[in-house]
Order: sequence, then C-alpha cells, then structure tokens
Amino acid sequence: MDIADWKTTDWILKEDRVFESDPNLVKDSNIMTYARGKGFSTLDELYRWAKNNLEEFWKDMASQLEWFAPWDVVLDWKYPDARWFDGAKCNIVYNCLDRHMHTQVRNQVAFYWEGESGARRIYSYASLFDEVNRFANALVRMGVQKGDRVAVYLPRIPEQIIAMLAIARIGAIHTVIYSGLGSKALAERVQDAEAKVVITADGSYYRGKVVELKPAVDEAIRFCPSVDKIIVVRRAKNRVMMVTGRDLYLDEALATADRYQPCAEMEAEDPLFILYTSGTTGKPKGVVHVHGGYMVGVYATTKMVLDLRKEDMYWCTADPGWITGHSYIVYGPLLNGVTQLFYEGAPDFPDPARMFYNIDHYGVSVLYTTPTAIRYLMHYGERWPAKFPMERIRVLGTVGEPINPEAWIWYREAFCDRCPVIDTWWQTETGMHIVTPVVNMPLKPGSAARPFLGIEADVMDADGNPVPPGKGGFLVIKTPWPSMMRDIYKDREKYESYWKTIEGVYVAGDACTKDEDGYFWIQGRVDDVIKKAGYRLGSMEIESALVGHEAVAEAAAIGIPDEVKGEAIKAFVVLKQGFSASDYLADQLKQQVRENMGVIAVPDEVVFVDSLPKTRSGKIMRRLLKAKEAGLEVGDTSTLEE
Ligand code: WTA
Repeated sequence: MDIADWKTTDWILKEDRVFESDPNLVKDSNIMTYARGKGFSTLDELYRWAKNNLEEFWKDMASQLEWFAPWDVVLDWKYPDARWFDGAKCNIVYNCLDRHMHTQVRNQVAFYWEGESGARRIYSYASLFDEVNRFANALVRMGVQKGDRVAVYLPRIPEQIIAMLAIARIGAIHTVIYSGLGSKALAERVQDAEAKVVITADGSYYRGKVVELKPAVDEAIRFCPSVDKIIVVRRAKNRVMMVTGRDLYLDEALATADRYQPCAEMEAEDPLFILYTSGTTGKPKGVVHVHGGYMVGVYATTKMVLDLRKEDMYWCTADPGWITGHSYIVYGPLLNGVTQLFYEGAPDFPDPARMFYNIDHYGVSVLYTTPTAIRYLMHYGERWPAKFPMERIRVLGTVGEPINPEAWIWYREAFCDRCPVIDTWWQTETGMHIVTPVVNMPLKPGSAARPFLGIEADVMDADGNPVPPGKGGFLVIKTPWPSMMRDIYKDREKYESYWKTIEGVYVAGDACTKDEDGYFWIQGRVDDVIKKAGYRLGSMEIESALVGHEAVAEAAAIGIPDEVKGEAIKAFVVLKQGFSASDYLADQLKQQVRENMGVIAVPDEVVFVDSLPKTRSGKIMRRLLKAKEAGLEVGDTSTLEE
C-alpha cells in the first residue's frame, strides 16, 4: 500500500448529539450478562479488563464452543502472522449444526427463506443438518477432498447457505462469488483459486426478471482448466446447456447421496474459505480465513454486538457472496443457534413497503442493513414505514460504508426510536466487527464508537504516530484478533503489506478521526477502493474493463460523492485515434463494464477527455481527479507530466 498517495482531512462534521437506548431494552444484553458474570458492573470495567487480558477474553469466548481437541496456546503471534488456538481441532460446521442436534435448538427454525415473489421455505436446524449432510456426501462422491477449492456462484436461495456449509463440512475450501458479478470477474476468481467444482443455478430472479447464471459460468470456465464439474441448482427454470459428464443438476446428485457425512476434523488454522475482494491493483485479492479463529471471532461478535438471542428473529439484508453474509448470515447466527429471515430480493421490490412488510410479518427484532438501503428508503418517505408497527424491533445495525448522521437519525426514528443503532466498522480482511458500539453504549450518530473487546485500534499518521483528537489520520489495529485474515491467497507480499505500511500495525485503508471521548469517526477509503452502495470495487478493475474496449486508450475511474449510494462511479476515458466521443459509445463502454464485472461496477457517468493527469512514472493521479470533482484546490502538481 502506498501511503504517500493517501490524504487525510481533519474532522469538520460537528455532531454532538448523544443517544441512550431504552434501559429496559438493553439491561439484559448478552454483553452485560457476560460482564456481570465476570464480576463487573459497568461496560467500562469490562473493556478495561479485556484490553489487559486479551487472551483470557478470547479463551472465554472459545470455551463456549465445542472442539474435537483442545488448543496448546490461545495465541502465537509472530508479527505479522498470528496462529490462534494452535493445536486445537475443530470444524466450524460442527458448531453451527451438529452441536445443536443434542439440544432443543434442533427443532428451532434456522431460517425462513422468502423468495422475491413471495415463495417460502422453512429450515429447522435438524432439516438444515440433513440437507448439508446430503450435499456434503454428494461432493465427496464427486471426488472433492479436504483442501480442494469449490466455487459457489448462486443467488440468495437456501442452497447458497447449504453449499457453503457442505463444502466446509468435508474440509474443502469455499470461494463464494457474488452472483451479480459478470463472467470475467467470475473467471478471474475461479482461476486464481483453482477451483475443482463450481456450484451455480440455471438463473436467478432480480426485480421480477430472470437473470441467467449458467451461461456466465459456461463462458467463464473456458478460461479455468481446474474445473471438472459444475453443479446446477434449478431455480429460475430457464433453459440451459448441460455438458454430459461435466454438468449435473443438484437434485440428481442428491438423489443418490447418503443422509450422513461425517464432519472433517480440521486443525484450527486450516483454511475455511477464500473470499475475493477489491484492492488497489487490477487483480482481486483472495482473503483467506480459517476454521478456529474465524469461528470464535464471529461467534463472539454476533452474540455481543448484534446481541442475538434465542428468542430473536434476525434479518441481515446482505448477500452471502460478500463478507457480511459469510460472517453474519451464515456462520455467526448458526453458531449462536438463532433464527433468521433469509430474503432473496431487493428491499424495495415490488415497492418500498417490502422491507417494512418483511419486518412486520416475520416479527424481526434485530435488523442489520446498509446505509445505502436506509437512504433509499428515506428518500421514499415516511409513509411507508408508518404503515407497519414493527413492534418487535430491538436492535438496528448498519455496515459497509460511513453512515451520515441524518440517515442514522432517520433510521432510528422510522424503525424504532427507543432502540440502539449499531454502526459496525470492519472489513473482509478482519472477518468480524472491529470498531463498533454495543447496545449499552451512549451512541453518537455517524460514529462507530470504540474498538470491540479484545481489540486495540487507533488513528495514526503515516509515520505511525497517534494523532490527537479531532485530527485526521489512518485507522490502524494494533493487536492481533482471532478472525483476522491469515493470508492473501498466493500473494504473501500483499498480505504483509497490510502490516508493513506502517511498521507494527495493521493499516485498514480508511481515514478516521477520534473525538475527545475516544469515539471513532470513519471517513471512508483513502486508497483506490470505491464504495458504491456498500459494494467494494477497485478503480483499476473498472479501468481494465474499460481499456478492454477497442476504442479506449486510457481510462481512470473514481468514486464521487452520491447522496444515496455514498459514492457513484465516474469514468474518464481517453479514446484511441480514429474514434470519436458519443453517447452511443459511452453506453457501449458501460455495457463493456457490465459484461466484465457485473452491474454493480457500471460507471454512473462516462466522460471523454484528451488526457489524464499522471506522475512522471506514468501513474494516473486519481486523487487529483477526485479533488477536482470535489472542487478542491489541487495543490502542488509539479510532479505531473501535464
Ligand atoms: C467500509 C464490509 C464506515 C470501510 C464489511 C472498509 C465502513 C470497507 C463501515 C470494507 C462502517 C465498512 N463505517 N465505513 N460502519 N463498514 N466500511 O471488505 O471503508 O466489503 O474499509 O467489508 O467498508 O469493505 P468490505
């Protein structure tokens, strides 16, 4: 990471409103129950203790789960590598499913699935256990072994969750690719992971229309020699091409599968999944997480931050194709044995009532969504939430991008004005919540509050000096945590760069300010990562899709502020000689990005320019383009070529 290119600003937002939640709602929170059990009567005491007893705290959390063999040490930290619970044997899926088969959780609902069209399917823990076993056995029969990579390219249907759990159950490694990504993005990820099997569907539904998925897989795997089988879930019933010997339907594979497949005994440090995410280069990074530490971190934060309990109905609107879905739809809730709603569609389809209807109808008590979704609903107006009582809501959470105080306040007022709003900051790389309030804290709209228990984080300048309150700096994490990524797949150097950009600490890539009370105010990315509607996109990836078009000589893509989506994408394009600018060409370029990367990466605006600002070494100065868009002084440009 090239920290010299990053700029920070001091905090100008003046926000001094503080909100307390209804004491009756939060007095028996999981975190206060834990604090009291440790003999503390206040949160502060608990936080102070955990800071000085990091290993003790994480050991407490790990002890609430089942292990096939105990660990030798809680933490083995050899900067920049951590091994957690080393020597222990476990399987995260055993803790999500098998463990509950001996308790009454067995007969509880794991999730209610609701399709976009209103179709419903209900899975108890026991029936989910059954489905996962059969799927796992089908994979074994196909020759999938421990350590093999299996790609999952599915929409939000139950099979997406079942597939992930089945893969992990047999000790294989899942790599889930968001079904909204295009075939080139899919190919790149499957290729890098060298996946043996791809699990997909014929098609998916999006806003009432069928989106074909299987053809995107057919196209992608032409470039992926490692793939020898494709499993197809019948979902949209669109016609697809099936290659004999290579492709098979899931229902056919399951028809001959055994009802039980033993859970593989894994080392705590064995990889569980690779999840690709965008960074500052043109190539997505394969973030590697492991069975043991990831399980403990995600279990603990689901319990203590989201405050999920047995009697809750939880709804997270994310997609398991991203980290929020991995940690807080699939693993966290199942580890805690709670019930959730798993919804296929968009929150405002067929109209903005859908979100509120779902909450009301299912009696959702803990809601976890994005600032973009909140701003969308806010823009539709008060009359939609006003129609639904939504009486059971107790906790409101947000994730993925900074939330502006206005949206924070609206969220609380529209959904439940006595409830805590938990603004959770974390990343694909961190696996779990890092800087976040808990329900008992005084809350400030727009602030992610404090580092979670057992986490030491700070705001530093580029030289690693802590910056004083109110000053801008970089968000860093100073101590290891159990669910931290262990590697970037096949790119050790990239992994190290997170811990070596500022010597001794983990640099997240976000600008941040701390206030006098130690509350963190996260301002957004300082590198070339764009956060559009919470989706994480790399400038370079969008640019390389644009340059793939025959008319384009050079391109630069930047994020510009957008009232609803947080950031919108603006692309600057230099054409090759012989091509001329037109609206038609701009549309073609957008189409090019859609086909390569998927609809989420399509630039909102394409402008044609004669040249791009560059350094002497030829690097595009995106920061300069951004500053210009924001109407700021562009400063010293003496190193620019033009
Ligand atoms: C941003 C998503 C402000 C941040 C879980 C981070 C946030 C990136 C917040 C990671 C938040 C996430 N407030 N910004 N509460 N949560 N971010 O890997 O820029 O998709 O670096 O993980 O999202 O995105 P990722």
